[in-house]
Amino acid sequence: MDDMTIVETAPQGVVSPATATALSVIVPTLNERENIEPLLTFISAALPDTAWEVIFVDDDSRDGTPEHVRALARRDPRVRCVQRIGRRGLATACMEGVLACASPYIAVMDADLQHDERLLPQMLQVLEGGRADLVIGSRYVAGGGVGDWSSDRVRISGLATRLAHLICKADIADPLSGFFMCRREVFEAALRRMSGQGFKVLLDLLASSPVPPRVTELPYCFRERQHGESKLDTMIAWEYGMLLADKLVGRIVPVRFALFGLIGGLGLVVHLVTLWLALNLLGIGFAAAQAIATIVAMTSNFVLNNQFTYRDQRLHGAGVVRGLAIFYLICGVGAVANVGVASYAFTSSHTWWLAGVAGALVGSVWNFAMSSVFTWRRR
Ligand code: GDD
Ligand code: MN
Repeated sequence: MDDMTIVETAPQGVVSPATATALSVIVPTLNERENIEPLLTFISAALPDTAWEVIFVDDDSRDGTPEHVRALARRDPRVRCVQRIGRRGLATACMEGVLACASPYIAVMDADLQHDERLLPQMLQVLEGGRADLVIGSRYVAGGGVGDWSSDRVRISGLATRLAHLICKADIADPLSGFFMCRREVFEAALRRMSGQGFKVLLDLLASSPVPPRVTELPYCFRERQHGESKLDTMIAWEYGMLLADKLVGRIVPVRFALFGLIGGLGLVVHLVTLWLALNLLGIGFAAAQAIATIVAMTSNFVLNNQFTYRDQRLHGAGVVRGLAIFYLICGVGAVANVGVASYAFTSSHTWWLAGVAGALVGSVWNFAMSSVFTWRRR
């Protein structure tokens, strides 16, 4: 049987176009149990004439969200649950939701009822009419709004929106919206280039599209959260910075490596300060002081890398002890490689700083590569 036969026969009688799902609504969830049923009721009321489905992508919520979604799914096949274990992140959750569905149109919206589901049919109409490839539910075009946000949040959101234009040149009023709909092709063209960092999936999508999609913005008013809590915290700002950095320079220097190197540089400072304290304040002999400084610097490097560089794969509890032990081992070998390369470079070039840099570079690349695989390996 050749490929043609497969293509011709497989779909026959499997599904009729009348029942094929036209729109998949991807909803990332983290502890949103109380919002699931109201959201489904709202979506159902908003889309009476559309074959839709909702895919909840849950990062192992502990409040019973995934169990609740599956219970509803047993009654309604339009409801689905993708549950991820040991991973976090709104952007990657949306990406995996897209990969788990097949519909020609995809919407992304929050679970907490802050996005106005009544916009969904209008968005779909724009896409089906071929007037745009992507429709954004926008807070910042005439008719839209942010509800009663604190003046601080308004200011921060404004600043973040201006920063977004660094990586997305298109003239879009609300590139940080979490509410949008697009043709499937828009996602498919961008998925492999997307950074997946943090909260800003729309911006990531726009900045990663090889061809800028045609965009339309429709106004809506951001509503109050009714149940549960917002997951927006100060680390979201950090993750946003990582997304911007990745999209700005990620092709030249991987952001993770740059960060690892930066923390390594900081480790040198920690090392020297500890050495000085041990020698001058504690009066310890040089070899012992150097050993202490080495351990302190490696430990602080580990803690910082765990907190920042590998935040999305952060180790907790017993994993920290195991990870730290592996990290010591890797850095130990890295130090030997560093000294070996530097000594070799020095005998052949006699330029002390060049030899030093060569050794440090080889050591850091080794430490980074090995740590990425063994210390913070993906589960
Ligand atoms: N799967 C998964 N994993 N879902 C998550 C995660 C996560 O790590 N973090 C948050 N979510 C889900 C929440 O459960 C909710 O459904 C949605 O993502 C948005 O989270 P909120 O905590 O309600 O975010 P927000 O209201 O502060 O931010 C919204 O507005 C921003 C614009 O100001 C979001 O729509 C952002 O994307 C948007 O940029
Ligand atoms: Mn919210």
